[in-house]
Amino acid sequence: MHSIKTVGVIGAGQMGGGIAQVAGISGFSTIVYDQYDQAITKCQALHDKLLARAVQKERMTQQEADAAKERIGFVSNLDDLASADIVIEAIVENEAVKTELFAKLATMLTDQQILATNTSSISITTIATAAGAAADRVIGMHFFNPVPVMKLVEVINGLATCPEVTKRTIALAEAMGKVAVPANDRAGFVSNRVLMPMINEAFYAWMEGVAEPEHIDQIMMLGMAHPMGPLRLADFIGLDTCVHIMDVMAEGLNNERYRACPLIKQLVSAGRLGNKTRRGVFSYEK
Ligand code: CAA
Ligand code: NAD
Repeated sequence: MHSIKTVGVIGAGQMGGGIAQVAGISGFSTIVYDQYDQAITKCQALHDKLLARAVQKERMTQQEADAAKERIGFVSNLDDLASADIVIEAIVENEAVKTELFAKLATMLTDQQILATNTSSISITTIATAAGAAADRVIGMHFFNPVPVMKLVEVINGLATCPEVTKRTIALAEAMGKVAVPANDRAGFVSNRVLMPMINEAFYAWMEGVAEPEHIDQIMMLGMAHPMGPLRLADFIGLDTCVHIMDVMAEGLNNERYRACPLIKQLVSAGRLGNKTRRGVFSYEK
């Protein structure tokens, strides 16, 4: 396998956009694909805004920002990822959609390319199995939101992941300024197994009238030194994504205690997904 020079990203949403931005800033030639042109336009606008802010804050020069922007290309055809040394998938947290994509990638890409998934909870082995003969090149590379700020990448091997793929993935995470920490392939890995029950409990506390949402968040911020309360954090992650993760954990860990609170599901069914729809637990209209 070659050393990684070109990073492909599938999904230009909040995670894919952040991964692409950090890859570009870190000097990697970066190719971003999304099936929706609208997502690409939104992602480009956010990159421009964040790069301008970095220049304004003197974290980089205008020249460095321009060079980073230049390194990030946007495409609307999956075939355009053929020149990437690694493809990092960051699409919706849905096993059927991800396995369909990996089955397709396995037939399109060369046997030199690493296929990484940014899944929050889904079994890496299941996703890898969908990739057939490419299963040994599939790995979990779990970034955190917001990607430009958060230091962690949780690295998860599937049953078939080959050691060379793990080594190169860790090296890429480090070259992107991140700290790679291993976790085993169990639903939700470590991060969401610990985080989601706290978020879910905050919804139960709200549903049962223990306190108002803003007070639940204030208590966790001021009493536990969390940078954001659990309800605002759920809005930030996306309430739909939180429900998907909890469903995967309830099924995968075979335990109903991980099942999402009815209140978070109700907000999702009303289209209140959090920051991305400007309304979730809280309103973000302004
Ligand atoms: N992209 C890039 N930079 C961002 C950003 C973004 N989306 N959001 C905030 N920042 C930067 C800001 O630019 C700012 O830096 P400068 O002022 O130097 O420019 C810095 O972060 C702080 O931002 P703010 O002052 O606006 O706000 P803040 O101090 O409240 O920090 C926060 C914002 C970093 C998001 C902070 O509230 C925080 O750490 N929250 C918790 C986030 C968290 O827990 N993430 C993990 C989610 S779980 C997950 O990711 C895994 C999963 O599978 C679901
Ligand atoms: P998002 O909804 O912001 O973005 C998903 C993007 O994928 C959208 O732009 C959508 O158009 C695109 N997409 C959907 N299906 C596609 C397909 N078949 N082909 C190409 N593009 C497709 O979601 P997100 O929050 O960025 O989450 C993406 C992944 O990252 C999920 O697996 C999620 O669990 C994981 N994750 C999310 C967070 C978080 O805090 N939101 C943190 C870590 C990991």
